[in-house]
Amino acid sequence: METPQRFYIEDAGQFDGQVVTIKGWVNHKRSSGNKIKFLVLRDGTGLMQSVLFQGDTTPDAMTDFEKLTQESSVEVTGKLRKEPRSPGGYEMGVISLKIIQIAEPYPISPKEHGVEFLMQNRHLWVRSNRQWAALRIRSEITRAIHEFFEKRNFIRFDAPILTPSACEGTSTLFGTQYFDEKAYLSQSGQLYGEVGAMAFGKIYVYGPTFRAEKSKTRKHLTEFWMIEPEVAFADLNDTMLLGEQFIEHIVQTVLANRAPELKILERDLSQLESIKGPFPRISYDEAVQILERRGVPLPWGDDFGAPHETALGDEFGKPVFVHHMPSQIKAFYFKQSDTVGGPGVEGTGRYALGCDLIAPFGYGEIIGGGQREEGVDVLRRRIAEHGLKEEDYSWYLDLRRYGSVPHSGFGLGLERTVAWLTGVEHVRETIPFPRMLNTLRP
Ligand code: 4AD
Ligand code: MG
Repeated sequence: METPQRFYIEDAGQFDGQVVTIKGWVNHKRSSGNKIKFLVLRDGTGLMQSVLFQGDTTPDAMTDFEKLTQESSVEVTGKLRKEPRSPGGYEMGVISLKIIQIAEPYPISPKEHGVEFLMQNRHLWVRSNRQWAALRIRSEITRAIHEFFEKRNFIRFDAPILTPSACEGTSTLFGTQYFDEKAYLSQSGQLYGEVGAMAFGKIYVYGPTFRAEKSKTRKHLTEFWMIEPEVAFADLNDTMLLGEQFIEHIVQTVLANRAPELKILERDLSQLESIKGPFPRISYDEAVQILERRGVPLPWGDDFGAPHETALGDEFGKPVFVHHMPSQIKAFYFKQSDTVGGPGVEGTGRYALGCDLIAPFGYGEIIGGGQREEGVDVLRRRIAEHGLKEEDYSWYLDLRRYGSVPHSGFGLGLERTVAWLTGVEHVRETIPFPRMLNTLRP
């Protein structure tokens, strides 16, 4: 007999009525007397029920079934048929079964486990249904991101991970020895992205970024992935429009392509379906008034904390841009303005031309960005005011010496975006191997 074709569960629809082989792992099993046995298999693309029926299935397979433990690896051959009660909508009538390995007693059983235990077993935990679904959605988001920029002819521009200086302030830098000098893991690819914008017009940086965040919150990782578009001849409003279209594309793509995974996660789809532009845009000053009214006052000049972000999300029920933040809480590179909506005026610069996008339902700031200072003298002053060394930024200042133009961009935090779209509570479940204050293993 010819060896039956191997198939993946997600493609089952193409093999209805055919004898095929699945290679996978045992999710769970149960027997109904001696004659019928059920084996639920996973193959990485989904779950499928297979049925061993005395008479249809080889006697060897009927005996081997008894040896199977959770996560044992197998090759199972049988006939596919539609079965609405099977996950995925297809079921296999088993003919034969080959054991690849009998798994030792698996530490993660269907019973409840504590998060600490699951985190220590992250290398196994990712096989579990909800983790699997969340990481499939992460991958879909990644695909949607590249698709968005490709359609708009952005060039992907890779920034270095090992850097000699800070982008987002010196308090969260991870230092490392770089031969005879000190280096830091990149907090953001932005400064290098600006180089790309001047060379290619519109670029995006996509890479890991690092922050020595000592806080334990559900939104902070020490290693996370950021997507940072940067566009020459673009102002603050252009950047908010790009961010809005970007988020809309990501959300709608995930809804279109990952409905089964969202269902596993019990995500309320109506919340996501309504995520369409235009998103509300409010100034920081307006935000302060809203927060006052909602009973979570914020002294002018302070950064938002979790309760403030949640309140702003509740106010609008969809992502909201907050722009014109107090300069004192923003990085050195922001273009400044003396008034909300006014042009950047050299001088006091009460406001930074920043824009943060706050996701609804307490998922917090998913985008941080804004318009960059394009004047060399102001920028040199800002570098000094922030206690940074001018020589570390000489190459960055060159961008302002040789054909400086207004330009803007933003950074999207991938894990916070995944958390929001999947509805998982904590960013640790949105990345295969989270790095946090007390988490370096596995
Ligand atoms: O607001 P941030 O710090 O902005 C920047 O780094 C800019 N240089 C980006 C740019 O304009 N090119 O970070 C951007 C986003 C945040 O909105 C958040 O979504 C995410 O990165 N982020 C984190 N995500 C997980 N854990 C952390 N510790 C994060 N810090 C920032
Ligand atoms: Mg920010």
